[in-house]
Amino acid sequence: MLPGWLCQVCRNRARWHHLPSRFFSWSPRQISRWNKPESTESSPPENPRVLITGGLGQLGVGLAQLLRKQYGTDNVILSDVKKPPAEVFNSGPFVYADVLDYKNLRELIVNNRITWLVHYSALLSAVGEANVALARQINITGLHNVLDLALENCLRLFIPSTIGAFGPSSPRDPAPDLCVQRPRTIYGVSKVHAELMGEYLHHKHGLDFRCLRYPGIISADTQPGGGTTDYAVQIFHDALRTGHFDCYLRADTRLPMMHIGDCHRATLEFLQASECQLSLRTYNIAAVSFTPEEVAQEIRTHLPHLRVTYTPDLVRQTIADSWPMRFDDSNARRDWGWKPVFGLPELVTDMLGAIREQRAREDLPAREGLPVS
Ligand SMILES: NC(=O)c1ccc[n+]([C@@H]2O[C@H](COP(=O)([O-])OP(=O)(O)OC[C@H]3O[C@@H](n4cnc5c(N)ncnc54)[C@H](O)[C@@H]3O)[C@@H](O)[C@H]2O)c1
Repeated sequence: MLPGWLCQVCRNRARWHHLPSRFFSWSPRQISRWNKPESTESSPPENPRVLITGGLGQLGVGLAQLLRKQYGTDNVILSDVKKPPAEVFNSGPFVYADVLDYKNLRELIVNNRITWLVHYSALLSAVGEANVALARQINITGLHNVLDLALENCLRLFIPSTIGAFGPSSPRDPAPDLCVQRPRTIYGVSKVHAELMGEYLHHKHGLDFRCLRYPGIISADTQPGGGTTDYAVQIFHDALRTGHFDCYLRADTRLPMMHIGDCHRATLEFLQASECQLSLRTYNIAAVSFTPEEVAQEIRTHLPHLRVTYTPDLVRQTIADSWPMRFDDSNARRDWGWKPVFGLPELVTDMLGAIREQRAREDLPAREGLPVS
């Protein structure tokens, strides 16, 4: 018998499944009697109510903007443990939320009638290796809090994974959705753990878990948070600032990358896909794949005098050498129609244009094709 307080969606999903242990720490009396199915046959479906954790990093603010356009500003709540800049604070709801604080997260979800949870908090690859204990806490303990809350509250839960979820024994060119995954970083280990826990809870308890393995994401107006692919953002800033870039990876290190616009659109389209479209719960998504030398060459079509030197950093080079060079994303393309827009030339043109605009706004000069003095 399923408890009567489960919403209809969860009742359907969980019919043949056992309930998780944290469910039994809830007395039915604690569950609001207003906790009814989100919509009935006669009422139009409500917009989702979205909470984004770790929302002040490279990806959260842009995704919030896109979701707010689609579903209304007040329906998308950004959260983080950092103080938001004024423009973010003034652009829509923001709350403090530490993913290690289960009770506070639960309160936010319940009080705001959250239906979709986008879990972005994480320590990324290079930062995680420098602080393994903290990475384990945020990426694994925080994940467990979020999984339990998603299950208790029948949420659609999106957690991004990464090229870092693969390791040296995985096929690298291309890496398929399903293959050996033995990553050698705490970041990768925690992301494989997230993929497996989410899928386990989906199959056992009907959790609506959704996961995309993002490539390295390239954005002009937000700074990357300490990953191995960060060079592919910095090169554009340095190209316009000084005309010289010193790369911490070897010139021939090929990695999958994606423009942030494609990343946000993929996330929205995947969140909107109906359950029957999804043959998997964790998908690779791909756009472009390039080496530092190839992106430098493409930038030189705009800034011919860009000079790039290479000083490989042992930690980040070792990480990059264990990651896929390309992603096979054929399942995402087939199941829910994924298709990127930005190839390398479009990505480079867009990045240079956006950073030029930023520099102009801040009254900073941009080196337009001048030789480095
Ligand atoms: N950016 C990429 O290239 C990339 C690639 C693959 C996957 N991803 C994944 O996408 C997600 C978002 O990435 P990002 O680049 O925006 O990351 P980021 O490092 O830029 O931001 C992460 C945010 O998490 C917050 N955070 C840290 N500890 C927290 C805590 N205890 N509680 C709540 N928030 C906390 C930080 O303050 C930060 O704002 C991550 O899960 C990451 O693994 C990103």
